[in-house]
Amino acid sequence: MESMYQLLQHRRSCRKYQPTSVSAQDIDTLLHAALMSPSSKRINPWEFIVVTDKELLEKLSHSKEHSSSFIAEAPLAIVIMANIEKSDVWVEDCSIAAILIQLVAEDLGLGSCWVQIRNRFTKNHKISSNDYVKEVLHIPDTYAVEAIISIGYKVDERKPFDEEKLQTEKIHYQHFTH
Ligand SMILES: Cc1cc2nc3c(=O)[nH]c(=O)nc-3n(C[C@H](O)[C@H](O)[C@H](O)COP(=O)(O)O)c2cc1C
Repeated sequence: MESMYQLLQHRRSCRKYQPTSVSAQDIDTLLHAALMSPSSKRINPWEFIVVTDKELLEKLSHSKEHSSSFIAEAPLAIVIMANIEKSDVWVEDCSIAAILIQLVAEDLGLGSCWVQIRNRFTKNHKISSNDYVKEVLHIPDTYAVEAIISIGYKVDERKPFDEEKLQTEKIHYQHFTH
């Protein structure tokens, strides 16, 4: 990919992965990118769990009623959580780290998808997705899970964004225009 702009045009959510594992070097690059995320007051409330164990990935695929099943077939998932006692803007901090992981994944030729955990529930609303992931991964009480990013080599290459179809009506200049 030549430029950041082209990378953004090509980043599309990927939910189908080749079984090939992600190299330790690429995993390190993804995590170092996350650790360089901007964070409010440089508090860095986030922490990350790297999951490559098949059994755990299978368990994580049941984190939500919908749209998390593909985690079972991903070779890698990075769970993004924060110590919520450390910062009142941990959601923003975690979101920035999450998107940076996704963009660096794209740059490394990997596909990824954000799986929302915060404010979501497991099947039949039995328990919150947050409590479920915390139990599976033994995460301490003072932490909350924001999202899981599933990562792996793409099976299909999706179409890049069409410049012509961008929602330019959402942009306002000087004042809000109706
Ligand atoms: C905050 C957030 C939560 C998301 N949660 C999920 C999810 O739980 N499961 C999923 O399959 N995709 C999830 N996505 C991916 C979106 O569905 C996807 O980004 C959107 O449909 C646009 O598609 P694109 O990423 O290919 O451009 C989430 C994305 C964001 C930003």
